[in-house]
Amino acid sequence: MGDKQVLVTGACGEIGQALVQGLAKRGGFRIVTSDLMPLPDSIKSLAAEHVQGDLVYKVKNFYDYDFEMIFHLAASLSSKAEVATEEAHRINVEGTMQLLMLAAYRSEKYGKPVRFLFPSSIAAYGMPDRAEKKKAGRVMEGEWNTPHTMYGCNKLYCEKLGVYYSRYCGQRHLDEHPPVMCDFRAIRFPGLISAFTLPSGGTSDYGPEMLHQAAQGKPYSCFVREDTRISFMAMPDAIKSILMLSETPREKLNHTVYNIAAFALTAGEFRDRAVKAFPKAQITFEPNPRRQGIVDSWPEDVDDTLARTEWGWKPDYNADRFFDDYFLPEIRKRYRN
Ligand code: SER
Repeated sequence: MGDKQVLVTGACGEIGQALVQGLAKRGGFRIVTSDLMPLPDSIKSLAAEHVQGDLVYKVKNFYDYDFEMIFHLAASLSSKAEVATEEAHRINVEGTMQLLMLAAYRSEKYGKPVRFLFPSSIAAYGMPDRAEKKKAGRVMEGEWNTPHTMYGCNKLYCEKLGVYYSRYCGQRHLDEHPPVMCDFRAIRFPGLISAFTLPSGGTSDYGPEMLHQAAQGKPYSCFVREDTRISFMAMPDAIKSILMLSETPREKLNHTVYNIAAFALTAGEFRDRAVKAFPKAQITFEPNPRRQGIVDSWPEDVDDTLARTEWGWKPDYNADRFFDDYFLPEIRKRYRN
């Protein structure tokens, strides 16, 4: 049997680069990538083919490809989406819809469900104020689905679109002979931190930005208050979760959207750990009201019981292991600090 053909959109992004490396390491895949940008050197040799350009227009190129799985990572993140709302909606919603239509078409035509992996986000939640956020603690998938941001609205709606295309498309599930539909699965990610890449346009970016700046001995002014708490995760755990969910047999899954959690820290706790590791770090707090508001609307932490029970999810990195076994050793090599 030949390699399984897979598509990774947004391949140049943080998750994209790490996922392409993860798939290549696992082996057995013919990896087709797409992005607005040319592939960076880190993954250039790992992709069999790269389609560069605006996904909304490029999807038609993919109708002849026999994809077993689609990892649709292309997105405009939460801070950027607030200043370019229309563009964000086009990228986040229209791009996803075009790809879901492709997955639905191929699933029906070849009688085999195309697996569609979608990264959703803690931005799909919206806590009304800080008191409720504190009171709610770890939230379940069905709670507080009232996002405050364009990005969060886009992610929540695309989760629903995924359910529609995989179960009810055209109400054809009611036909005497319903078609084979695609197999949609979504993970709501916390803030992700990589030792190798930096995010851009997100609002959880203060975590990774602070750590990368501290490691280089550069000053950092954090755009949220010290007491701001959300959940974070090491990039290798994020990749592990995508691969795990993509490999789980359909019959084990009773849900479509899953929280995953690793560690929840305040911005002040990040600062303390950064200063301990890099005593020359200069970290100050100068909250930006709008970005602060976004993070205040995200839950302190999420409950990932469904992922743990249905597909065996468990992170490798808690806060201590994240710093000691992953981030600090890698970042010291990178910045020679
Ligand atoms: N990390 C993303 C952001 O900050 C949320 O998924 O936009």
